[in-house]
Amino acid sequence: MTRTRTQVGIVGAGPAGLFLGHLLHLEGIDSVIIENRSREYVVERVRAGVLEQGTVDLMRDTGVGQRLDREGMRHGGAYLAFQGRRHRIDFEELTGGCGITIYGQNEVVKDLIAARCRSSRPLYYGVRDVVVADFDGARPRVRFRFEDEDNEIACDFVAGCDGSHGVCRPSIPASALRVFEREYPFGWLGILAQAAPASDELVYALHERGFALFSMRSSAVTRLYLQCAPDEDLDRWTDTAIWDELEARLGTTDGWRPNRGPIAQRGVTGMRSVVVEPMRCGSLFLAGDAAHIVPPTGAKGLNLAVADVRALSRALAAHYRKGRRDLLDGYSDRCLRRVWRAQRFSWWMTSMLHRATDASEFDYRRQIAELEYVTSSRAAMTSLAENYVGMALE
Ligand code: FAD
Ligand code: PHB
Repeated sequence: MTRTRTQVGIVGAGPAGLFLGHLLHLEGIDSVIIENRSREYVVERVRAGVLEQGTVDLMRDTGVGQRLDREGMRHGGAYLAFQGRRHRIDFEELTGGCGITIYGQNEVVKDLIAARCRSSRPLYYGVRDVVVADFDGARPRVRFRFEDEDNEIACDFVAGCDGSHGVCRPSIPASALRVFEREYPFGWLGILAQAAPASDELVYALHERGFALFSMRSSAVTRLYLQCAPDEDLDRWTDTAIWDELEARLGTTDGWRPNRGPIAQRGVTGMRSVVVEPMRCGSLFLAGDAAHIVPPTGAKGLNLAVADVRALSRALAAHYRKGRRDLLDGYSDRCLRRVWRAQRFSWWMTSMLHRATDASEFDYRRQIAELEYVTSSRAAMTSLAENYVGMALE
C-alpha cells in the first residue's frame, strides 16, 4: 500500500475537479486529483457548450483563458422558434451588456488539464475501486487502486467532484442528506456535424413533433439536439432521418434550416433535475453534478459546477490562510441559492419547450401562448435573458 498526504483529495477530473485543483494551486493549496476514466475519454466526451460570463471571466482571471479568447464565440442573444418563426431575445440589450460564450466543455477540460500539468501537482487517470472514508472527522482518506497498486491518501478535506454516477455522494449516510428529484419523460439525441453553422446564434425550437436545439462549436462544426425518448434506440436513426427530423422541427417559413454535413458523433442523454442538501458531510464537500443535476435546456450544469468550486476554493483558502471556518460552514447554503435558481430556470425552459407524451392539445396551446408572451413582453424577455446569461460570481 502506497500512503501519501495532501491537503485536499479531489475525486473526479471533470470541469469541477480540474477547476478546483487549479484554483487551489493558485492559492498555494496542495491537492491530488483522481479520475476513473482515461484522459482521452475525459477530453473527447462532448457535453456542454455555453459558458456564462462569470465562467469566462474566471478562466481569464486565473490564466486559462488564452485559447478561449481566441476560439470562443461570443453571442449577444439567442432565438426561440415556434409556429414557423424565429424570435430573437437580445441578451445584451436586455441585461446591460451581458452575453454568453460558446466554447466546448471538452476545450475547457483540455485547458485545465494543461494548467494542471504545468503545476506539476498529481492527477491520476484510470484509477479503480475508489473509496472515501473517515470524513466524519478531520482526517478523511481516499483509497484507490492505480496500476495494480493500492493507494491511500490522507487529506484534510475531500472534494466529491465525481459527477452524477460517482462514489462520494452514495458514501454519505442517507440519513444525513435530503434528495430532491424530478425525472422528465424524454431525453435528447445530440449530434456533432461537420457543417458550418447556418445561424450565428442558438435556436431553441418547440414544434408539434417536439423540441429541437441548434447550437455550434466552431465556424465549421454544428451541434444539434432532438427531443427523443429517454431510452431512445440510436440504431433506429439513420443520418438522413436525423437531418429530416431536425429540419422539420427547426426550419422556419422564411426558408431557414440548419446546414447538413457528415455526422461525427451522436448520443442520447436522459433528463433529470436533482438537488442534494446539504452539499457537505463533515470534511467531505460535494461540488458540480455530484450535488445537483439540471436538465440541459437552461445550459447551466457546467456553470453551476464552476460556481461551486470557486466558492469552495475561497472557503478553503480562508481556512488555510486565516483559520476561518465560517466560509466552509456557509458553503452549502451559499451554493444552494444559486442551484435552486438555476433549477427553477432549467425546469421552466424545459417545460416550455418540450412535448410530453401524455400532454394534451391544451398543454401545447398553453406552451405556444407562453412563447408568444416571452417573445413579445419586454418584462418576460428580460427575465429569460437575465437567467440565461447567469448570476455574477461573488
Ligand atoms: P462531470 O463532468 O460528470 O465530471 C465528473 C468526473 O468524475 C468524470 O470525469 C467521471 O469520469 C469522474 N468519476 C466518476 N466516478 C468516479 C470515481 N468513482 N472515481 C474517480 N472519478 C470518478 N452545462 C452547461 O453549463 N451548459 C451546457 O450547454 C450544457 N449542455 C449539456 C449538454 C449535454 C448533452 C449534457 C449531458 C450536459 C450538458 N451540460 C451543460 C451539463 C454539464 O456537462 C455538466 O453539468 C458538467 O459536466 C458537470 O461537471 P462535473 O465536473 O461536476 O461532472
Ligand atoms: C450545446 O451547445 O451543447 C448546448 C447549448 C445549449 C444548451 C445545451 C447544450 O441549452
